[in-house]
Amino acid sequence: MSDLYFKPLQNDLLLRTARGEKVSRPPCWVMRQAGRYLPEYHKAKGNRDFFECCRDPEVASEITLQPIDRYEGLIDAAIIFSDILVIPQAMGMEVIMVDGKGPVFPEPLHTPEDTQYVEIMERQVDVKETLGYVYAAITLTRKKLNGRVPLFGFCGAPFTLLCYMVEGGGSRTFQQTKTWIYKYNAESKKMLQKIAELCVEYLAQQVIAGAQIVQVFDSWAGELSPASFKDVAFPHLKYICDHLPKRLEELGEEKVPMVVFAKGAWYALEDLCQTKYDVIGLDWLHDPLSAYKVAQKYGKVVQGNADPGVMYGGHEAITASVKGMVDGFGGGKQGWIANLGHGVTPGVKPDDLRFFFQEIHRLSDEYQER
Ligand code: CP3
Repeated sequence: MSDLYFKPLQNDLLLRTARGEKVSRPPCWVMRQAGRYLPEYHKAKGNRDFFECCRDPEVASEITLQPIDRYEGLIDAAIIFSDILVIPQAMGMEVIMVDGKGPVFPEPLHTPEDTQYVEIMERQVDVKETLGYVYAAITLTRKKLNGRVPLFGFCGAPFTLLCYMVEGGGSRTFQQTKTWIYKYNAESKKMLQKIAELCVEYLAQQVIAGAQIVQVFDSWAGELSPASFKDVAFPHLKYICDHLPKRLEELGEEKVPMVVFAKGAWYALEDLCQTKYDVIGLDWLHDPLSAYKVAQKYGKVVQGNADPGVMYGGHEAITASVKGMVDGFGGGKQGWIANLGHGVTPGVKPDDLRFFFQEIHRLSDEYQER
């Protein structure tokens, strides 16, 4: 849907940075910026179920805007309030969000012989239809944002989604995932390919609805060895960035910048830099300067990467961490979107996060005056 339907963007710093342009300061936002650390989130959610909130465009857009209102002038992007697990839901799997525990699949996939695996593989999934509520939430959020900052759409990466579909939730040992990728390698790849195709269509529909940049979250990539990442995760991440632009063209829609965040896959930085993703998300296992040098060699932008745990360390720890990023990422004149190295956690004090954003502004201004 083109921008014609919406107010022009007043702050395009993040989009320009993602496209590799030179900028006056680094844009910033944080993953999970709409969520449990904010008292207003709990208020808006009330005692509603998590997925019920995701399915209600009014509530989802309200929650998306909360950090934008609270940190007005300090953050440069919104991310639609939803979850990566809506794809498995669209594929016909039940997912419930258990308070204090996280997502649970009452009936995860056991083996490729299971009727459930066969059914899912055979089912024609129409994400355009099934996930209509996400697109409605995106369009409504774009209207409410009124051009203040750009809006991110997102999806989970095929490997991370497969983990949840076979584990039935979070895991410590990833026993089921490892069983699938090592014992049922061919069947795993068929499922991963199916998910990758759904991700492309899902992201394309988000863009049509108004998403101005998209991010693919491979949150469990770090559970894989470099060799198994190359085998089961990377090809499907690549499929998405190769096919999304083509799909958008088919639909008569402009391309948008694409961000990939493969958490824990530090060894894959060079490989990710050689894909069509515009921005490579970095977790805090990366040293800013070394990662920045690699990304610059390939003309890629990086996003990240403060340890979310510094938020528990008070102002001094936050300042030191931001300084490390500003110095390592070239002061933020080009090629760096400031963020945490993973999502903000529920125990963080909103004012500490504010201080983090303020320090990004202050220290990058100071760097540029040097
Ligand atoms: O602000 C934002 O970043 C947008 C919203 C967003 C949510 N989930 C909301 C949410 C995004 C981008 C996600 C992505 C997501 N969901 C990921 C990838 C990012 C990452 O953190 O690695 C993953 C792995 C999930 C799956 C998921 N959803 C888990 C493991 C959990 C429980 C743990 C937790 O951190 O809360 C969720 C629930 C969830 N998703 C909440 C929110 C605000 C908390 C729900 C609640 O208890 O109210």
